[in-house]
Amino acid sequence: MCGGLAAALSLVGCGPNQDAEWAGSSDRPMGAPAAPTPAPPEPPKQLESWASVAGLSPVELSAERPLSLGHGGGRYTYSVQAPADVHERYLSPVRDTRFPAGTALLERTFDAKSGEAGPIFVMLRHESGWEFHELDAKGFIQPRDEERCRRCHTEARADSVFGAPSSR
Ligand code: HEC
Repeated sequence: MCGGLAAALSLVGCGPNQDAEWAGSSDRPMGAPAAPTPAPPEPPKQLESWASVAGLSPVELSAERPLSLGHGGGRYTYSVQAPADVHERYLSPVRDTRFPAGTALLERTFDAKSGEAGPIFVMLRHESGWEFHELDAKGFIQPRDEERCRRCHTEARADSVFGAPSSR
């Protein structure tokens, strides 16, 4: 017997028609589990600590908002918010400055021309290192490559923190 079920089960050569059974089907071998259907994209998640992070006190950087050198290639000015007890070390970080676990740093960006609010960047200090996120105006986490953030921030002088423009 050749073709039909037998061919499908045994996969032995049955002449030129042997592939007909498979026309249009996937090329996985019989019996192999179907590839898992990709998970639907996760719904956007708000940063858990958004309420407290958004309310951190503004660091006094300069009279006018400085131009961001790190984010947006010159498109944005920015402001920074941080817990009051780390303002001092943010303003003048030195090489061995460390930020305690639990520290959150928030950078808000503004279109340099229109002043319109742009993306928000947050760094959260854990014992093991910093967690990086880009957020929208309501604190929802944007899908970004955290490693890119981390790599560039590793170049910063103090504990991956760039600090005020005058201190760089
Ligand atoms: C190409 C380098 C670069 C990349 C990539 C980058 N940053 Fe930055 N970041 C900077 C620089 C430089 C500053 C200093 C302020 C400025 O220029 O905007 C900064 C400032 C910050 C600050 C304020 C604290 C500080 O270090 O002064 C936060 C928070 C921040 N970045 C988060 C992020 C997050 C989150 C990402 C990834 C989504 C990211 N950054 C990617 C260069 C970078």
